[in-house]
Amino acid sequence: SVFSAGASSAAIPTYACQRRTTLNNHNKVLTDALKILAENAEYYESVGRYLAFTRVSSILKSLPYAVTSVDSLRGFPGLGEHCRKVIEEILEDGVCQEVESVTQSQRYQTLTLFTSIFGVGVKTAEKWYKEQHQTLADLRASQIRFTKEQQVGLQYYEDLTTPVTRAEADMIRKTVEEAVYRYLPGAVITLAGGFRRGKETGHDVDFLITHPEEGKEKGLVTKVIQHMASQVGLRHSDTTHHQAIMSCSSVVRALASQKCRKQETSKFDHFERCFTIVKLNQELGAGGQGAGHRPEDKHWKAVRVDLVIVPISQFAYALLGWTGSQVSKMLCNFPHLHSQNEYFSAAAEEEIFAHLELDYIAPWERNA
Ligand code: GTP
Ligand code: MN
Ligand code: MN
Repeated sequence: SVFSAGASSAAIPTYACQRRTTLNNHNKVLTDALKILAENAEYYESVGRYLAFTRVSSILKSLPYAVTSVDSLRGFPGLGEHCRKVIEEILEDGVCQEVESVTQSQRYQTLTLFTSIFGVGVKTAEKWYKEQHQTLADLRASQIRFTKEQQVGLQYYEDLTTPVTRAEADMIRKTVEEAVYRYLPGAVITLAGGFRRGKETGHDVDFLITHPEEGKEKGLVTKVIQHMASQVGLRHSDTTHHQAIMSCSSVVRALASQKCRKQETSKFDHFERCFTIVKLNQELGAGGQGAGHRPEDKHWKAVRVDLVIVPISQFAYALLGWTGSQVSKMLCNFPHLHSQNEYFSAAAEEEIFAHLELDYIAPWERNA
């Protein structure tokens, strides 16, 4: 196999795409701690340490048992001294001193808060932190010139940081279907992202849209967005059924164009896509859980939705890529899948795994 070079003879495979990682995490106490250290490393732009903590955390998530002693960590690929010490401390004392002091540090708390705002990355968060800002109120009262994304992120902060439920994803799907079928009746819409991996909630909803006949999908994203945006006002008073509508067409456009240029991460990334915020109508009282900060008269929730339009010939790659999590990041950038600009053609995800001589990993086993 193309992956055998770095693999040790130990039982735990080195790469995430060789491991089955379900949502049933037997080592949550450990992975939560490592996640905090990884985030903190990221806040200090220490890529090496970030990767070290993330890799070990990812392996722990794949284990079908709870680690109870450091002895059982023998044969654990890439386990460094630092991670070993953290795990040992938690197994012995229940807590790790380093993790405790990180979570109590002002820097960690502020950067975690700021990076939770849509449109804010570590660099920006750090800049604001150094300018002595600590709270959302500080930011809102400041003279900072926010990007369009950040403005939206702050405006809808409560909504956008409240997890999206599967039921909400289903409602949004209905509106997307309605808009898509209007222009392309034979289109196929697939829910990807965390929901496809079996998660009950997500930070957004990801849809892939294709058509069995290559080329039919061209230009669809613009039409769908325009249609959905035009629904604002038209159906505003219709509260009899749930529907997702764009909060504001100008916001939609800004998000789409900016992200498309920025996030060209792999060769399989030239699809039409749109990163949007939709307005999800909610029945009175239905928004009870988690909707605490919403004003009484606001009957809707802002939800992040990603729409990706894919030609059928590349659907398998796009589906793999947009299902996540680590597994897809690894595989989609793998050079064996393309030479010059010729892609190995795959009709289904299974064929991509087979081409790389990997055992097939089902979506719900990709929660690395
Ligand atoms: P939740 O949304 O929190 O449930 O998690 P998620 O796994 O769905 O994350 P997210 O919606 O951010 O991304 C879903 C998948 O799409 C992940 O595997 C990402 O790597 C992938 N993805 C996100 N943005 C891009 C992009 O610009 N290009 C490509 N190719 N993939 C992307
Ligand atoms: Mn998602
Ligand atoms: Mn997404």
